[in-house]
Amino acid sequence: MSKVIVMDHPLIQHKIGIMRVKTTSTKEFRDLVSEVAMLICYEATRDLPLADIEIETPLVKATVKEIAGKKLCIVPILRAGLHMADGILNLIPNAKVGHIGMYRNEETLEPVEYFCKLPSDAAEREIFVVDPMLATGGSAAAAISQLKSRGIQRIHFLCLIAAPEGVKFLQEKHPDVDIYIGALDERLNEQGYILPGLGDAGDRIYGTK
Ligand code: PRP
Ligand code: URA
Repeated sequence: MSKVIVMDHPLIQHKIGIMRVKTTSTKEFRDLVSEVAMLICYEATRDLPLADIEIETPLVKATVKEIAGKKLCIVPILRAGLHMADGILNLIPNAKVGHIGMYRNEETLEPVEYFCKLPSDAAEREIFVVDPMLATGGSAAAAISQLKSRGIQRIHFLCLIAAPEGVKFLQEKHPDVDIYIGALDERLNEQGYILPGLGDAGDRIYGTK
């Protein structure tokens, strides 16, 4: 079974607290999405394997570490995942980026895929799927199924806020995918929104609605 890691770092909790406030501005909200994504990524990359390499400092030859093995790829789920990807690229500037376009049908809450573009060597990479909200889990599960259908195996999922219902659903559908969560909330409401949550992440990032 996969790992579910809920962040307990004070900086993450503080920043997500600001994001929840309904009067937080679009600009501040957008900046916080990037910052919290970067902090969660720091934890999600903790187990990446390292290898020794020989270098020369200005003074001597030395053995230092570099990240070994597979290279990385960030896959934001559009729209809201895009700003998480921007934050993570500050930490891992050489990562490639794939995109999956997905929206929830507001009545059925079923995910609808409208776009998928991945690096040609994505199957050889360690993949970080990012989306601020894990609500029913439908969008994340469908995005990960799409990646697996293209031969991608090593997948991690990062979100800012999750509902218990979404975590359970994603674990059942993809028991091999580790889930990194900024804050685990109480439940979903009747419209499939996370409570207490932060509202519609895409609308708050882009000022739509
Ligand atoms: C939001 C969010 C997730 C999805 C989560 O996207 O960014 O992708 O809902 O809900 P789920 O877990 O129940 O599938 P939305 O459908 O609002 O699209 P948008 O990012 O384009 O606004
Ligand atoms: N999508 C969001 O943006 N927010 C929620 O609370 C649920 C789904």
